[in-house]
Amino acid sequence: MKQILITGVAGMIGSKLAEYLLAHYPAYGVIGIDNLSGGYQENLPKDVRFHQLDLVTDSLDDVFKGGNIVYVYHLAAYAAEGLSPFIRCFNYQNNLVATANVVNACIKYSVKRLVFTSSMAVYGIGTPPFNEAHIPSPVDPYGVAKFACEMDIQIAGEQHGLDWCIVRPHNVYGQHQNIWDKYRNVLGIWMYQKLHNEAFTVIGQGHQKRAFTYIEDCLESLWQAATNEKASKEIINLGSSTETRVIDAAHLLQTIVGGADIDHLEERHEVINAYSTHEKAINILGYKDKTALKDGLTLMWDWAKQQPKRERKEWDRYELDKGLYGFWKK
Ligand SMILES: NC(=O)c1ccc[n+]([C@@H]2O[C@H](COP(=O)([O-])OP(=O)(O)OC[C@H]3O[C@@H](n4cnc5c(N)ncnc54)[C@H](O)[C@@H]3O)[C@@H](O)[C@H]2O)c1
Repeated sequence: MKQILITGVAGMIGSKLAEYLLAHYPAYGVIGIDNLSGGYQENLPKDVRFHQLDLVTDSLDDVFKGGNIVYVYHLAAYAAEGLSPFIRCFNYQNNLVATANVVNACIKYSVKRLVFTSSMAVYGIGTPPFNEAHIPSPVDPYGVAKFACEMDIQIAGEQHGLDWCIVRPHNVYGQHQNIWDKYRNVLGIWMYQKLHNEAFTVIGQGHQKRAFTYIEDCLESLWQAATNEKASKEIINLGSSTETRVIDAAHLLQTIVGGADIDHLEERHEVINAYSTHEKAINILGYKDKTALKDGLTLMWDWAKQQPKRERKEWDRYELDKGLYGFWKK
């Protein structure tokens, strides 16, 4: 049986994609890798052949050897963009070096196509709506690592004939999102805060614009990214075309969860308006914006309320304290 490998399979996109592929494309088996640093074993569908491995330090040979792996989705990363300047070395190890290991294995074992989830963070200070033709200009180490991965994958395509598709998703949310990490996933952070009777924290005035994207709306597009001939060697933005101010998203979620106070925090170094064009996603990947933010948030909140109490992720020590925001200081 042909196999699809998903790295980061215990995370939100990985586990939801695994569920989707097993349900809709049963001719393929799904193999998953994750080190469980940011995802949870409970997210895994039972038919995934799971390997608990770290992509930075562990060998991938046993997984690839004889695995009949045709498509690889490389989703594993630590996507805490705002924190990345304070965990610089970790960010490059975990997000860039790990990708180099995956690229090596894809070349060595003649994978048919590698799909990499990059990020809108590569656009950085560009002017929105970000278009795939814009020259990337990331403003933080997370975006730099993603851009470096993109370039590395393209080089592997040129030199070793590796086929690839790079998707740049943005602000994906939904069930299986990590809501226990205080450094990332604003909608998940607010749900955690409501569950603990805390106020929603909003950075600055919350006038930043983001286009929040419901996870289920992305899944068929990700399948197309691996299998559609037209997606070969393309870079494609992926996600909703409706932008929302962060403060408006907070107000919307207040109505869904039955109220919450809002606590404004100091501003931080970040791109104020980040949203993109979607023509390529629509034309090549068949992306459809199906789920309104209100509906997606309602589904996610129903899920969040059922979740076990988990300890919140906090870094014991940052690589750098200089310039750290008050709200992350110990
Ligand atoms: N969710 C979004 O809004 C969004 C937007 C743009 C890009 N992306 C990218 O999509 C991918 C998946 O995002 P997600 O939201 O599902 O994140 P997630 O944190 O839910 O999943 C990532 C998974 O990768 C695993 N992982 C991290 N480092 C690893 C390592 N060294 N070895 C093995 N496993 C490791 C984590 O344990 C986690 O389960 C990431 O690459 C992220 O950068 C996500």
